[in-house]
Amino acid sequence: MRAWRVHSLGDPADVMTFDEVEEPTPDDGQLLVRVLAAGLNFPDVLMAQGTYQEKPPLPFTPGFELCGEVVGTGRRVLGAPSGGPGAFAEYALMDAASAWPVPDDMSDEQAAALYLTYQTGHVGLHRRAGLRAGEWLLVHAGAGGVGSAAIQLGKAAGATVIATAGGPRKTEICRELGADHVIDYTAEDFVSIVKDVTGGHGADVVYDPVGGDVFDASRKCIAFEGRLVVVGFTSGRIPSAPANHVLVKNYSVLGLHWGLYRKHDPALIGTVHEELCRLFADGAIEPLVGQVLPLHQAPQAMAAIADRSTIGKVVLKPW
Ligand SMILES: NC(=O)c1ccc[n+]([C@@H]2O[C@H](COP(=O)([O-])OP(=O)(O)OC[C@H]3O[C@@H](n4cnc5c(N)ncnc54)[C@H](OP(=O)(O)O)[C@@H]3O)[C@@H](O)[C@H]2O)c1
Repeated sequence: MRAWRVHSLGDPADVMTFDEVEEPTPDDGQLLVRVLAAGLNFPDVLMAQGTYQEKPPLPFTPGFELCGEVVGTGRRVLGAPSGGPGAFAEYALMDAASAWPVPDDMSDEQAAALYLTYQTGHVGLHRRAGLRAGEWLLVHAGAGGVGSAAIQLGKAAGATVIATAGGPRKTEICRELGADHVIDYTAEDFVSIVKDVTGGHGADVVYDPVGGDVFDASRKCIAFEGRLVVVGFTSGRIPSAPANHVLVKNYSVLGLHWGLYRKHDPALIGTVHEELCRLFADGAIEPLVGQVLPLHQAPQAMAAIADRSTIGKVVLKPW
């Protein structure tokens, strides 16, 4: 079968090759799946560069999430490859216990975009931040993979959503996703706008995949008892919050590493999957697939994510 493999760490376009490799053989408790669609995530780029928190041994096949067809049964499932990345291939192994059923009316491409970003959004907004109906939710990078999911999940939870994004095309996407207020944070001062639209209250929950200056500014427009969810650092800078500022403004900074729930509370993943399927059936969420590319274009897809030019999720199709 064909599979992309990262042979050394660096720019994905330089270090990945599309190799002929042996089809994997499932162990007990594993399924062999024919990959129907694989979702890209920013961490795919970071992992190839060697700057992600997890560093698999080389060579490795990238790709954290997929929709696949179980070989032998034809059943469609979604989730993560067994034991780490591995979705950018024609076939992959999945743990049977965490190969989640795909709703009949969900496309392969949407199913490949439902797992990582929506699980992260749901756990971040509900389990970590305790988002309540009627609260103000500020979502940064709202037109990206993680951000687009958070806008939809925030609206589904009954929050009023303020979304930021870079440029008019992306802010328009945020509006289409259901955001109540949108801000082009590359051209406008989001701190003063958030204070204005909330009547001075500030954002009760901030969902921040960007970090850096965006995190710093978010601390200036967070509400009393607000919760700032640290999701990622696409800006490239890991920020800090001075403890005295957290104290005097009475807010919380919440770390979010969704992957750890697979170890610490695996039952949560299934519960959240059921809830996401219910929200999809109700029309409350619909994964935004901005681009579908053939598997052989994985390096171009990763370059597009790295240079900030993608909308929603990019999905690769092997067949
Ligand atoms: N904590 C967790 O458990 C967890 C789980 C999944 C993902 N994540 C993290 O969430 C973040 C977003 O992932 P994603 O897959 O949603 O990525 P994505 O689709 O590429 O979206 C990221 C967005 O970040 C914004 N951005 C701001 N500065 C940027 C820069 N210098 N370079 C690139 N993008 C920049 C861009 O939006 P604008 O152009 O609108 O600014 C971009 O669309 C990543 O840091 C990832 O590691 C965390």
